[in-house]
Amino acid sequence: MDVFECIHKRRAIKKFLKKPVEKEKLGIILDAARMAPSSGNLQNWRFIIIKDMSLKSQVASACYDQLWLQEAPMLIVVVAELDKVRRFYGIRGETLFAIQNCAVAAQNMMLAATGLGLGSNFVSAFDDEVMSTIFSLPGNAKAQAVIPIGYPDEDPVVPIRYPLETLVYFNAWKRRFEELEHVLREHGEYHRKFIEKTMNKVKETHGKVEKESKGLIEQIKKKIKDIQDKP
Ligand SMILES: Cc1cc2nc3c(=O)[nH]c(=O)nc-3n(C[C@H](O)[C@H](O)[C@H](O)COP(=O)(O)O)c2cc1C
Repeated sequence: MDVFECIHKRRAIKKFLKKPVEKEKLGIILDAARMAPSSGNLQNWRFIIIKDMSLKSQVASACYDQLWLQEAPMLIVVVAELDKVRRFYGIRGETLFAIQNCAVAAQNMMLAATGLGLGSNFVSAFDDEVMSTIFSLPGNAKAQAVIPIGYPDEDPVVPIRYPLETLVYFNAWKRRFEELEHVLREHGEYHRKFIEKTMNKVKETHGKVEKESKGLIEQIKKKIKDIQDKP
């Protein structure tokens, strides 16, 4: 399955077969996470693998009773380690980069899972404190997402996506491709100036020609009169 197929085939799966995930496949999924980009290549992601039923149940409860989670053969909890990003990038590192790094790693995992015929999901509606307690996380580590992985037992329809033309702007906020008016206005102004310049040139040339030809006509008229007046 190529990357584009994985992107399109990946769905948020909530029903899994009882079949366990092969160790080799888990390895490939974790390696895909490891290869994700990260701010300053700090790789502040950590992964906690859970197969134990009682732990899965605790996590499902921490996720505001999303009990379907405990039926997945495996959960991967993505945890952000915050020290290094804070040291390197301050508040922005801690409150943004650390989270973004974990999110891109999670996406890599989900795409890899899809490529291996597995289903996955991204769950981040949970109580931070409860999650920290379950995994004895220190103050410098924060759970970012729970990724259930397993063979899917459902084939959900693709949830509706907004069409591209409503999402993409050109060069400025809200400037849509369809906004030809702007383009026309720009070009309209250009053409107006061009026409104005050309007309002025024509008038100037015409004026000169008119003046010169008037003089010539006068000369010719005078010559005719001279000839007529001659005896
Ligand atoms: C940041 C984030 C948080 C999410 N949290 C949850 C969650 O707590 N529970 C859940 O069932 N799905 C969760 N999802 C999955 C979305 O509901 C799902 O991706 C969305 O409905 C689109 O469906 P699709 O992934 O099949 O395209 C989350 C997704 C993201 C990106």
